[in-house]
Parts: sequence; C-alpha cells; structure tokens
Amino acid sequence: MRVAVYPGSFDPITLGHLDIIERAVSLFDEVIVAVARREEKNPLFSWEERVALAKQATAGMKGVRVEGFDGLLVDFVRRQGARTVIRGLRAVMDFDYEFQMALTNRKLAPEVETVFFVPSEKYFYLSSSLVRELARAGGELSCFAPAVVVAALKQKLGSR
Ligand code: PNS
Repeated sequence: MRVAVYPGSFDPITLGHLDIIERAVSLFDEVIVAVARREEKNPLFSWEERVALAKQATAGMKGVRVEGFDGLLVDFVRRQGARTVIRGLRAVMDFDYEFQMALTNRKLAPEVETVFFVPSEKYFYLSSSLVRELARAGGELSCFAPAVVVAALKQKLGSR
C-alpha cells in the first residue's frame, strides 16, 4: 500500500491544501494529513481545532486520514509506515524553505522521499496566513477556504 504523509500547520486548512490532497489521493492509496502541533508559532486555531477542521474539510474524501503529530516529522512518517512526504509548491518564495526542509528530512531519514505537488493556478498565491488576514479584515473567504473554516473563522474573530 502506498501511503503518503502531507504535513503542515494547517492554521487553517484552505482550498489550496484541499487541491493538493485531491492531487495526492489520485497517486497514493492513502494520504495522511498530518497536523503539526507547532504551538511555538502561536497559531490562531489550537492544535485540536486545526485537526478537527482538517477532518471536517476532508470528510468526503476517500483515502484521506487526518492525524495530529508533535515532534519530528520523519519519526511520525516512520511510525505510519510511510516513505513519502508531500508538500505543495507555489511561487518561488516557497522554494528555499521547502528545499531546506526536504534536505534536512532526507539527512534524518534517507529512505523518506519528499514529493512536491503544484496546486491549481487558482490557489497559487493562497496561504493560511492570507486567509487569516482576510478574515481579520472582514473579507470574502468562500473562494479561499472550505465552508467549515469560514464558519470557524467567523466564530473566532467575530463577524465584521
Ligand atoms: O505548514 P507549515 O508551517 O509550512 O509546515 C511546516 C511543518 C509542520 C511541515 C514543519 O515545520 C515540520 O515538519 N515540523 C515538525 C518538526 C520537524 O520535523 N522539523 C524538521 C524538518 S525541517
């Protein structure tokens, strides 16, 4: 069985993430969406909320499982019996960080391969931080985030 892990902060999960997940499930038997704890990043949503939102947003998707993880990504990947890490690659701005992360993970776990997916051009500039900023400013979110996330953002930040 080909299992891939798609890690991230998912603060919150966006339509760009869902686009990557859809592409990944067409190539892998199971895609584990791995929500990193990352409390040091001071996320808007708690770890539990981010896991719950990712679960709700992917509920209808076959071959997708959502898990929370803490600690090293490669340890989680090994525990899941996976050998592939998936990351989305958008504009060039992602490249340095992704390259550094992929090579660090390879040093730590040479058997784990990182595979990059390019999202639809609709989501090329979309990020969780953009969605949070739009939500704070009262912008229209439905073309950037799934309905459950839009509702959760409204609840957290108040409707403006
Ligand atoms: O959505 P993000 O914040 O870009 O995701 C980054 C994430 C969570 C994938 C990365 O920070 C990570 O893997 N953290 C776990 C700790 C770890 O394994 N670090 C070494 C990899 S460089």
